[in-house]
Amino acid sequence: MFAGLTIGRYRVPYPLLQGGMGVRISGGRLAGNVARCGGIGVVASAGLGLDLPTYNGGNFFESDALALKEELRKARAIAPEGVIGVNCMVAVSDYDTNVRAACEGGANLIVCGAGLPLSLPKLVKDYPEVAIVPIVSSVKAIELICRKWERHERLPDAVVVEDPETAGGHLGEHFEDIGTGKYDQYGTVRGVKAWLREFAGHDIPVIAAGGIWDRGDVLHALSEGADGVQMASRFVCTEECDADAAYKQAYLDCTKEQIGLIMSPVGLPGRAILNNIPYIEQYDAQRGFICPCRCLKRCVYRETGTHYCIVHSLNRAQQGDVKTGLIFCGSNAWRSDHIGTVREIFDELFADEKTA
Ligand SMILES: Cc1cc2nc3c(=O)[nH]c(=O)nc-3n(C[C@H](O)[C@H](O)[C@H](O)COP(=O)(O)O)c2cc1C
Repeated sequence: MFAGLTIGRYRVPYPLLQGGMGVRISGGRLAGNVARCGGIGVVASAGLGLDLPTYNGGNFFESDALALKEELRKARAIAPEGVIGVNCMVAVSDYDTNVRAACEGGANLIVCGAGLPLSLPKLVKDYPEVAIVPIVSSVKAIELICRKWERHERLPDAVVVEDPETAGGHLGEHFEDIGTGKYDQYGTVRGVKAWLREFAGHDIPVIAAGGIWDRGDVLHALSEGADGVQMASRFVCTEECDADAAYKQAYLDCTKEQIGLIMSPVGLPGRAILNNIPYIEQYDAQRGFICPCRCLKRCVYRETGTHYCIVHSLNRAQQGDVKTGLIFCGSNAWRSDHIGTVREIFDELFADEKTA
């Protein structure tokens, strides 16, 4: 029997948090549908403003905040009673604005990755009802976060432990350490949980992320000490996922061998479908250097002109240009074999189970 998941003031019947997927892979439609099915739906805030007319008028950051509120409205319309969060990346220039826009837009929780969200309690101090959830890959990282948050008298409402060996998107660890056997997904889950219990004096939910695909994986994660799972790639091949059909087809077509690590212009490794990376670099080399929005705090492309513009390449892929667009995915994405619905995934993961 599955227990539900409680994060801060919010409780869902199933122990599933949908992983935020930028740019606009998990928008309001996917997040709203996950929330409607009894999980926690998460809108990814990174780069949302690129499609807005206000962006073309020149203000990327203003557009980002407006677009995030719009995606939250869409999600809320689909799941008025559901639990809906926003994923914010610490590495983006408008991280603070995104966090504030998420609070103003009615997010129930904020999940932060791609860097240590040390200032998060300060940013949400006027919104005590908003739960805050850092993503880490080590006990050391949660220790650093909690010691800083202690000064603001805040603790994480839950923690996501992301496995660099399997998760998609940006990975907050060193490229050269991944694949060496250094990371032990459930050893870290248990380590983080034990450290939090000692520090806080009570249990804080710890959620495992990376490579979780089917019911067996969920049961395994729970049996290994996780209180819930964060799943992202599994939701791409759904009708409700906000990406273009060609993006979903790239998941259906890819093989296990085509999935691997890139060194992102953000300065972090990332997991993606690798076969079109040369075309992404060629695309930017041919069009000449353009960095119109300075979206990242640190960007190798902006600083050196090498690599490619990551926000535009992710956006192109989301819109269906899978030849020159970057397609992030977890190590299990090759297991996608049809386009289904979010409801079908929940039925498969949690069928015939009474929830507590
Ligand atoms: C297409 C894609 C985009 C992602 N974008 C983000 C993001 O914007 N922010 C973030 O914190 N994590 C991001 N991630 C990581 C996921 O939220 C999640 O933690 C991870 O992929 C879990 O592994 P799984 O895909 O095997 O389920 C992304 C993952 C994918 C597949």
